Amino acid sequence: MRPGAAVAFHDLAPKLDSFRDAVLDGLSRAQKRVPCRFLYDERGSDLFEAICETPEYYPTRTEIDILKTNAKAIAKLIGPDATLIEYGSGAGQKVKLLLRALQRPRAYAGIEVSREILSRATDDLSLDFPNLQVVAVCADFLTPIALPPVLQRGAGRRVAFFPGSSIGNFTPAEASRFLDQCRVMVGAGGGMLIGVDLKKEETRLDAAYNDAAGVTAAFTLNLLERMNRELGADFTIERFAHHAKYDPAIGRVAIHIRSLANQSAVVAGRRFHFAKGEGIHTEDSWKYAVSDFQMLARDAGYRPVACWTDPAQLFSVHYLAA
Ligand code: AVI
Repeated sequence: MRPGAAVAFHDLAPKLDSFRDAVLDGLSRAQKRVPCRFLYDERGSDLFEAICETPEYYPTRTEIDILKTNAKAIAKLIGPDATLIEYGSGAGQKVKLLLRALQRPRAYAGIEVSREILSRATDDLSLDFPNLQVVAVCADFLTPIALPPVLQRGAGRRVAFFPGSSIGNFTPAEASRFLDQCRVMVGAGGGMLIGVDLKKEETRLDAAYNDAAGVTAAFTLNLLERMNRELGADFTIERFAHHAKYDPAIGRVAIHIRSLANQSAVVAGRRFHFAKGEGIHTEDSWKYAVSDFQMLARDAGYRPVACWTDPAQLFSVHYLAA
């Protein structure tokens, strides 16, 4: 904890599945794949931050603009004395502007699987908001979480905050389960504020996931470098390429690492073959029309109350009542 920061840390000891097991299982499948959470080692997290700064990747700055423009209206819906519970706890700038707009926020809780990221983010927040009760919950937010008692008291609402369209990295079925779980956690009368990227023309989305400077490509290919670093793999990175394509019929950007040749590589002592053009699936990013997302939210037991978008209709922020 940094000097001056006063954060209550609750370690729910999340079980981390091993990178090695996930890679060996994923590369053994007919459609090779590695779950997207493994993209975020230290280098991957830095590269993701750099993606957010590229001119093509509009979601981050557009969501910030929507939150700034509508902060008063959002704060009015959330109401006074609220407890804000952020999933992912990395979006410092967004949560700070929200907290500044809220009337007497009672507490903030960050839920995050990485202890380091969680302590850094919550310490930083506590220094900026010395009068706010700040709680760190180290947990895997994909499993149901029992909130510490301190977050279950209080007159105001409990509101879950899930910015960045991270919901888009779940399949719609996973997204529905996650929303349902959040609804149970915030309880009756609670709410959810969530950022959701919108369906739009193919060229815009293809550009956002294939930036000209190659930052997204470096982010995707870092997964092979991570295998070389951590699993003793022997991938020649130049013989693979990042491939991202939006399918407007489905509303999803699918991201793969494509093999540029017939080749093989050893990973954790096992040899895997890659045909020329074969892909390792690394990530999907689902996009929703406002009405699609509201339907998903209704199915998960919410009442959609408000939705704010930017003038170009690139991104949406929804407030859902639980
Ligand atoms: C974290 N997530 C919402 C990003 C997205 O847009 O799906 C991850 C990303 N991958 C490549 N670019 C951005």
